Amino acid sequence: MNILVLGSGGREHALSWKIAQSDSCEKLFIAPGNAGSSQVGENVAIKVTDFEAIAAFVKENEVALVVVGPEDPLVKGIRDYFESDVDLKDVLMVGPGAAGAQLEGSKDFSKQFMNKHGIPTARSTTFTAENLEEGLNYVSSHPVPVVLKADGLAAGKGVIISETNEHARATLKEMLVDAKFGDASSRVVVEQFLDGIELSVFVLSDGENYKVLPEAKDYKRIGEQDTGLNTGGMGAVSPVPFADADFLGKVDERVIKPTIQGLKADGIDYKGFIFIGLMNMGGDPYVIEYNVRMGDPETQVVMPRIKSDVLELFVAAGNGTLDQVDYELDEQAATTVVMVAGGYPGSYAKGAAISGIDSVNEAMVFHAGTKNSDSGEVVTNGGRILAITGKGDSVAKALENSYNGIGKISWKDEYHRKDIGQDILKLLD
Ligand code: AMP
Ligand code: GLY
Repeated sequence: MNILVLGSGGREHALSWKIAQSDSCEKLFIAPGNAGSSQVGENVAIKVTDFEAIAAFVKENEVALVVVGPEDPLVKGIRDYFESDVDLKDVLMVGPGAAGAQLEGSKDFSKQFMNKHGIPTARSTTFTAENLEEGLNYVSSHPVPVVLKADGLAAGKGVIISETNEHARATLKEMLVDAKFGDASSRVVVEQFLDGIELSVFVLSDGENYKVLPEAKDYKRIGEQDTGLNTGGMGAVSPVPFADADFLGKVDERVIKPTIQGLKADGIDYKGFIFIGLMNMGGDPYVIEYNVRMGDPETQVVMPRIKSDVLELFVAAGNGTLDQVDYELDEQAATTVVMVAGGYPGSYAKGAAISGIDSVNEAMVFHAGTKNSDSGEVVTNGGRILAITGKGDSVAKALENSYNGIGKISWKDEYHRKDIGQDILKLLD
């Protein structure tokens, strides 16, 4: 079958790398892709939200399966667009419709969903400019830290944790009155701070059945010891040692099952990934957030831990037969370390020539912000540039492979964190 992957990050390179290994994969297209995805498939210069161009391409190239990488096209309704076109409604798609994508597109929606279906999460209240005074009073007496979340998509920046009530008041005002995050902060969810260790669990749903994919821990801050600004993610590790059978059993019973059943009960036919951000508080899971896609860079450790043909899973998710397939887990650990352009997540230069990628043999190199220059060189073209995934019998060995790979790659002003996975090694001691 012919397959189209939408997106251009490390996540999409990792998805494409895995899909390309399937015997059922005939032509693989990535729109718009990057220099890495062009090694496993054919890049197509179409934007992920240009539904018309995507639809025309899918028809012309007899694409039978579309795997949607980022949230934006999902929240904007790419599945609904396909379903309303007689020639496209039978094309399989991994990714929910706009109704299901609200789980990520609106934090208020996701809180209401969790409360309705008894899914453990932080206590919260939602405010708008209409009840600003009430909101200000509420945050003035809320125990601190207190968490303020812009309701809509804010490119991963919409969550502010206030250490004082004064800061929370000022932040709530900025979000609701000064539109700090534009429209996204016209509603603000104010919630209780959850103190614990974070991890992410990934579920693939066909609307009825589901498969739990390998879990991962992400490193969001730019600086070592989790300091500095938030980023899209600077590294990831799988498996996560505190996610043992007992904990994952609780996640399944208390979070995953009620989520799948809740979606069904609410009339949402959810075919796609559910990325559940969790806090482990004293051995009990609480949901921090849902995303309606895979994580980046978590995908760069999750895909390498799936031994089986991933296309079988994706097709089954698309046509509602996930109960008939399963996958074999690779028991090896996988770690990924993201190499970024100096200055990221602030401003950074583009166009630097990257050297050394071909000499990496101990790790996998997943591309994110890269492109092929006119002279055929791989050059930087974004903030996060490469994710270097190592595998090994232990997290320590996998990390050694990731960092040895990194040691061979360079460009002007490259930066990466040197402490990815160190917290996990301490837990394992
Ligand atoms: P989100 O954009 O929802 O992923 O939130 C970004 C980050 O903020 C999360 O990964 C957590 O580290 C942190 N966070 C969000 N909500 C809470 C909460 N209720 N308590 C503690 N930390 C939180
Ligand atoms: N790494 C976090 C995310 O993909 O949202």
